[in-house]
Amino acid sequence: MLKFNMGGCNSFVNNAEYENYVEKALSALSVLEKETGAGNDFLGWKHLPSLTLAGKLVDECEAVRDAWSAKGVDLVIVIGIGGSYLGAKCALEALNHTFAKSLAGKRGMPEVVFAGNNLSEEYFCELMDLAAQKNVACVVISKSGTTTEPAVAFRVVKQFIENKYGKAEAAERIVAVTDAKRGALKSLSDQEGYKTFVIEDNVGGRFSVLTPVGILPIVLAGYDMRAMLRGALEMEKACAKPCECNPAVQYAAMRNLLYNKGKKIEILVSFQPKLQYLGEWWKQLYGESEGKDGKGIFPASVICTTDLHSMGQYIQDGERILMETTVTVEQSNRQLIIEADEQNLDGLNFLAGKRVEECNKMAELGTQLAHIDGGVPQMSISIEKIDEYNLGSLFYFFEKACGISAYILGVNPFNQPGVEAYKKNMFALLEKPGYEEQTKAIKERIK
Ligand code: PA5
Repeated sequence: MLKFNMGGCNSFVNNAEYENYVEKALSALSVLEKETGAGNDFLGWKHLPSLTLAGKLVDECEAVRDAWSAKGVDLVIVIGIGGSYLGAKCALEALNHTFAKSLAGKRGMPEVVFAGNNLSEEYFCELMDLAAQKNVACVVISKSGTTTEPAVAFRVVKQFIENKYGKAEAAERIVAVTDAKRGALKSLSDQEGYKTFVIEDNVGGRFSVLTPVGILPIVLAGYDMRAMLRGALEMEKACAKPCECNPAVQYAAMRNLLYNKGKKIEILVSFQPKLQYLGEWWKQLYGESEGKDGKGIFPASVICTTDLHSMGQYIQDGERILMETTVTVEQSNRQLIIEADEQNLDGLNFLAGKRVEECNKMAELGTQLAHIDGGVPQMSISIEKIDEYNLGSLFYFFEKACGISAYILGVNPFNQPGVEAYKKNMFALLEKPGYEEQTKAIKERIK
């Protein structure tokens, strides 16, 4: 079971201050549970673990996996951006063998790669180089069905698949995940006869990892989605409890208390490189949910010990506006013991007989103590190991804590008005029909 620990904050806050924030967090939780707060039409994610485990969605995703496997598909291109990308990317980075690409084929599952999360021409061309050598299928994901980056990528990949296999076969190799009724992707899918999975109206992008948005790519890559949902279900129950024992209440309370004490930046830390994209997913979840109305903790992330040799100096010694939350993994899935060396020229025989993970653990503990001494409060979230179950519990825990935390902060966690600004400029610069006035104005501005 996921555990939250805030012992590393003791020297920065007192008990009365913390209790005050627990009260705020419990009120925020009650608003979330009663569905009376801002954005309350976007709370469909709250019961996804229990509802999905009881439903047929995972079976339907497995049917796609089996149909594509029968065709010999060995490359699945998953197209999406933001919440329609980061959850699946995070899960696959965590679960895949680190060197899966070089070991390709060994697991007997297709390689899953992502597109539509950038507009780099070089990326597109290199993706096509890969696709040219593979047996390809595609999942295109966009809730709105109108987001530019995935739409451009899909146009390229769709044409590629149609050219390679013909239109009829392409329709069997493309699956769309989108709104039930609205958007260009929905109409295009209906017209082309693609199988579609629905993202319900009441689930926003960054809260959608436990919908087909995350479930389909994770199942296609061969992972146990039911285990992930069971882990999430454990947190669905634990994080609904209206008590101080609720880990989401504790985390939301402490991070807001620290924010109000001037700790404006929270760094999500992991000593497991496989969790790098947990940091990316978490940054989107918290950044888009909380960063508005001139407020919000700035979410950052580091992977250690790697980043101790780049960001470590700042964290230890730079401006004192930081707090850290470490995602601690209790057990490594693999073991490697450091052997003794007769000559001991490197002076490392003091480590002989120890596991590499013991060194990693001592680095983690030593770093946390050093950062407390340097004025950086430490929270930690521990999971037993990296697997589907524990990832599911992390996903749900962070989502629930995010809703509570944003309500404490006094913002609507479920909208993202700021994301529109760049799009308007981009469309004006690209001379999209309907943007004539903005095109004129922006061209004046950059003359
Ligand atoms: O959290 C969000 O709502 C956003 O990050 C979206 O997921 C992102 O913009 C992609 O949107 P869409 O799925 O509509 O293409």
